[in-house]
Formats: sequence, structure tokens, C-alpha cells
Amino acid sequence: VASFFVSVSAVKLLPIQRKNQHLEKIKTILIVADLYTDEVDIEEVYKNKVEKRWVDLRTGEFLTKSVGLDLEKLNINSLAKSEKFGEKISSSIDIARIKRRPKFMPIYFVRKNNKIDRIILPVYGKGLWSTLYGFIALESDIKTIAGITFYEQGETPGLGAEITNPRWQKLWKGKQAFNEKRDRFITVIKGAISSNPLESIYQVNGIAGATLTSQGVNKLVNYWLSDDGYGVFLTKLMRERHG
Ligand SMILES: Cc1cc2nc3c(=O)[nH]c(=O)nc-3n(C[C@H](O)[C@H](O)[C@H](O)COP(=O)(O)O)c2cc1C
Repeated sequence: VASFFVSVSAVKLLPIQRKNQHLEKIKTILIVADLYTDEVDIEEVYKNKVEKRWVDLRTGEFLTKSVGLDLEKLNINSLAKSEKFGEKISSSIDIARIKRRPKFMPIYFVRKNNKIDRIILPVYGKGLWSTLYGFIALESDIKTIAGITFYEQGETPGLGAEITNPRWQKLWKGKQAFNEKRDRFITVIKGAISSNPLESIYQVNGIAGATLTSQGVNKLVNYWLSDDGYGVFLTKLMRERHG
């Protein structure tokens, strides 16, 4: 009898769990977009302020046709694993150590006065113990970092899990994701960042005592910002915006 109730409640709780995961994820998007306060109705703000588009990572083009329920239904992990929507990453470029990735990624725009104000890119990769899932937000210049957040990770509380600490995340704000030529990318540094602002604009302090997780973040951010990640899309977007 007891096991019957346990299994029934497990099945009943599943949709609630999924819903909570969904809410946690869109809350993370609002945080990185600077749209979050304790008072907001997360779903309402997400619906009204955040525009989701699907990008083909290889071509950097938006998917124009209706992407179909399958794509909308699946999370990043299931997309990456799927035969149809996922692909293998060659080990020589797999610095985020994720092995597979979705062919198409959802990206998010936030507009201000009808102009793009934020571009929010899902990112993920290995930390020390776990895969870290989060978002990196770029300003309208498509190279200044507006924020970074993580909605799922399994690193050690007080050590690697400090990547979820807003105080650490704040260090990323205003840094340059990459330079004009795109041959220099943001780097997480062990110890102190440079005293030269021309250098430190591309540097973020790692977390003391959690260098391995910090390096994981460094690598996953670099992977997703590179031409193997969103690079083709970002370059296209920059060209369109700056002529
Ligand atoms: C129980 C335990 C849990 C740890 N968890 C993490 C972690 O989540 N992330 C991390 O980078 N290092 C973690 N470490 C520390 C790493 O082994 C390593 O010492 C550390 O990343 C080096 O960082 P530091 O050079 O800044 O001291 C853990 C160590 C122990 C003993």
C-alpha cells in the first residue's frame, strides 16, 4: 500500500517538478536580462519581454519555418542527444567537454524602444563534478557582457557552486566577450586580474579554492562564443547591425 502511494505521488509530482524547473530557467533568463525583481510575475514578464528565436549554429541563420513541437518540447540535453536535432562535437574542438550539442539553439532577445537591448545565449559545459547550464547575456553592441547566470549545476556548495553567487557573476558585467578581430576572448584568471584596463577588460577573477570549476566556466564560455559555438551567428548579427 505504501509503495502504491509513493509511486502515485512520484508520478503526480513529476509535472510539478518540470514546471518548477521551467520557472527556474526562465527566472534565470530574467535575471541575466535585468528584468527580475522579487515582485515580478516571472511567466508574465518572460512572455511579454523576452523574444525567443531558434538559430542554426552552422549557418548562423534563424529558423524561419515553424520549428515544430518536437524542438520546442525538448530541453538542451535531449536535443543534443537526439538523432535528428543533435550532432557530435569533434573532440579536438570540444573544450567544453560536452561531446554532443543541439544543431539548433534557442536564443533570446530583449528589446528596449523596439531596439535589441540584450542577446541571451544558452551555454553549457563541464565543471569539476557536473555539467553547468546557464546563460550569457551580451549588450546591444554584441560584445560587452551584460551578465552570466547558471540555472543547473552540481558543484560543491561554497566552492564550485559559488558560480551561482551574484557577487561572482557581477564581476562579468561590462567585460568584453571578445575583441573586434575575434582573436581574443574573455578569460577567467586564477589570482588577480591585470592592473592594466586594456588587459583586465578581457579578464574575470576565478573563484578561490575552485579553480577547476572556474576553468570549466572559462572553457564553456569560450567554446560557445567561438566560431564553433555562436560565432557564425554573432558575426552575422554584427554585420547586419553595423552595415
Ligand atoms: C570535497 C572537495 C570538494 C571540492 N569541490 C570543488 C569544486 O566544486 N570545484 C572546484 O573547482 N574545486 C573543488 N575542490 C578543490 C579542487 O580539488 C582543487 O583543489 C581546487 O579547484 C583548486 O583551486 P585553487 O587552486 O583555487 O585552490 C574540492 C575539493 C574537495 C576536497
